Amino acid sequence: MTDSYAVVGNPIGHSKSPAIHAAFAEQTGQDLSYDATLFELEHFAEQANAFFNAGGKGLNVTVPFKLDAWQLADVLSNRAKRAGSVNTLMQGKDDKIYGDNTDGVGLVRDILANHRGSLADKRVLVLGAGGAVRGVLAIILAENPQSLVIANRTVSKAQTLADEFADLGRVSACGFDALAGQKFDLVINGTAASLQGDLPPLPDGILAADSWCYDMMYGAQETVFNTWARHQGAAKTMDGLGMLVEQAAESFFMWRHVKPDTAPVIAKLRAQLS
Ligand code: ATR
Repeated sequence: MTDSYAVVGNPIGHSKSPAIHAAFAEQTGQDLSYDATLFELEHFAEQANAFFNAGGKGLNVTVPFKLDAWQLADVLSNRAKRAGSVNTLMQGKDDKIYGDNTDGVGLVRDILANHRGSLADKRVLVLGAGGAVRGVLAIILAENPQSLVIANRTVSKAQTLADEFADLGRVSACGFDALAGQKFDLVINGTAASLQGDLPPLPDGILAADSWCYDMMYGAQETVFNTWARHQGAAKTMDGLGMLVEQAAESFFMWRHVKPDTAPVIAKLRAQLS
């Protein structure tokens, strides 16, 4: 019987996950179906349980249900515990529901493997302190950056995250103004500002020579953050399309124990964007 998977969210219409997983399945010869399913707000658990009770093998979970998925899982991976959210659910052979978060691995693998970069010993700045940032901090810190600064419009939220992750490395928090005079080797934009075409109010001159900038968002056009980065002299700008495909690949691996080749899938999606 064909194993069935789905991505669930609200809204879900524009999800690229079905195309990504179809490409992975074809490439690796896996017999599976993967749909995009709109879940009603307020009823995540009933709908997810119904999917698994009907024999569904795994779900990708997107906005706004990642916290609901975290609560639903019987067993959480360590990185999902840290992230406080789950983007991948799997029905185990023991009938337990396993929850994982592959976003952090997606981001770091995109920077390391696809862009041949490094986080080790780098001065890293992360912009934002919402769910997207919380989801990736542990994996960034596992790469041993020299330091990690979390800057956010609401400083108290950045401080809460810095305190929560302090056991994993040198993490501090501040507002955007306080960045003036500091230099960073890698700046990662995890604010929702780019969704509205907004830019956090960043001081000039915070990019070190040869610094890289990464926007977790992506689009057909260069993001406002990456335009800012280029004007500030960034040596390289990257967007979140590779992260999207890499987090999907990690989910696929969790479910199927096969690692797909992400490069052709990223290239195909990139071509379809423009
Ligand atoms: P997500 O799940 O995408 O992280 P979130 O948890 O609502 O969404 O967090 C949104 C993040 O984007 C927050 O860090 C938010 O800053 P505040 O904590 O101060 O609200 C940030 N953000 C959203 N719009 C912004 C803007 N126009 N300028 C700067 N930061 C913005």
